[in-house]
Amino acid sequence: MTEPKRLFEQVNDYANRADPYPLYAEMRKTPIIRQDDGSYIVSSYRLIKQLQHDPRISVDIRKRPPSDLRGQRAREMSSRGRPVPFLRLDPPEHDHIRRLVTRQFGPPHSPDMIDSMRGELAQLVHELIDRFQGRSRIDIVDDFAYPFPVSVICRLLGVPREDEARFHVWADALVASLDPLPQATGDQQEMGAEQAALEISQYMGELIAEHREHPGSDMLSRLITDYSPEGPLAPADLVVTSVLLLIAGHETTVNLIANSTLTLLRHPDVLERLRSDPELVIPFVEEVLRFEPPVQFNGQRTAIADITLDGVTIPQGSPVILMLAAANRDPERFPDPERFIPDRQDNEHFGFGDGIHYCFGAPLARLEVQIALNALVRRVIEPRLVIDPPPYRQNALLRGPRHLLIDITGIR
Ligand code: HEM
Repeated sequence: MTEPKRLFEQVNDYANRADPYPLYAEMRKTPIIRQDDGSYIVSSYRLIKQLQHDPRISVDIRKRPPSDLRGQRAREMSSRGRPVPFLRLDPPEHDHIRRLVTRQFGPPHSPDMIDSMRGELAQLVHELIDRFQGRSRIDIVDDFAYPFPVSVICRLLGVPREDEARFHVWADALVASLDPLPQATGDQQEMGAEQAALEISQYMGELIAEHREHPGSDMLSRLITDYSPEGPLAPADLVVTSVLLLIAGHETTVNLIANSTLTLLRHPDVLERLRSDPELVIPFVEEVLRFEPPVQFNGQRTAIADITLDGVTIPQGSPVILMLAAANRDPERFPDPERFIPDRQDNEHFGFGDGIHYCFGAPLARLEVQIALNALVRRVIEPRLVIDPPPYRQNALLRGPRHLLIDITGIR
């Protein structure tokens, strides 16, 4: 039996990456755990729900205690005028930027951008599957899931096709630095990410200037030309927001496609059902978001006042981590939580978070993954898992396979 305060350390131990779920079950027995470093780990559905709606919980890194290194760096950057992405802002700044960006995304303020991308998404997916022709082994991550979301964000932002390859390189460098454990993020990776951030910011600055001259129907053009009383966003905010969309929508979507494919191959009966019933993909993807969520826990938040829950006080200034994946299997919320039920009803999971920071890209992510999976099950003949469990990425927060090798008989 692991001591409760050692459980989070265990979750971050790579040895447990393939199956962290028994650790989450152990955690839920002490739904608020204080660790030796003064941080708090929360793991029950009810308490996480409560905290995601509690204004005393801040996502703003600048509000971390003076001793926190990332907090210090964020305050320094901010004082030099670098804007904070809205994922890391509290109200009212968060709400202002999110509202402006949401306006461009779809009804009631503008045409449904996501739905209008349906054809383009399908085309991207089919192009990737066409490349499986003549091969007997493919890697679902490298050959399929990985290239897809970056291309989608580029289309959304109106990045010309010939520049897409550069976005793939930048996205790789930025995502590599996202590991929540500082020791897992080497100096070299941090520098690679800094360099990528610099390059992409410069590129986006130029693209914004170009779109200002010649606006198109893409999201960036809409943001630039929003002359509503609140708009448009300041140029620096535009750059930071575009980069946020790229990072937030990249590895998360890769992992959802890979986790979904792995789950399908582990449940051949579900794969068969999906082949004959394309509509099943809608509840199926929701169940993967509950059962194998790409975001296992939230990035560190800070209590900005004392918060007392179930008799435990989290003191002001404490780091707080919300274990979304543990809540998703909480038996007090979900009947039979350890079972994968592809058409589960009443599935209000935390796969996209909750509260004011609920995933901005959820409608796009859902559509991308639904289209990808339906195309995959229909076109790939006799897919078989080569290694189970597959090798996972290092990252415990953004969890997913590094490779997912499957043997196939062909494509149709
Ligand atoms: C926020 C998951 C795809 C943009 C979040 C959060 C989660 C999440 C859990 C909440 C984070 C928190 O509370 O700290 C996912 C998953 C995805 C996905 C699992 C894919 C399967 C996308 C895409 C985009 C996107 C495609 C961009 C188009 C964002 C943004 C936020 C966010 C901007 C911050 C929202 C805010 O702070 O108001 N996402 N996401 N995500 N996501 Fe996603």
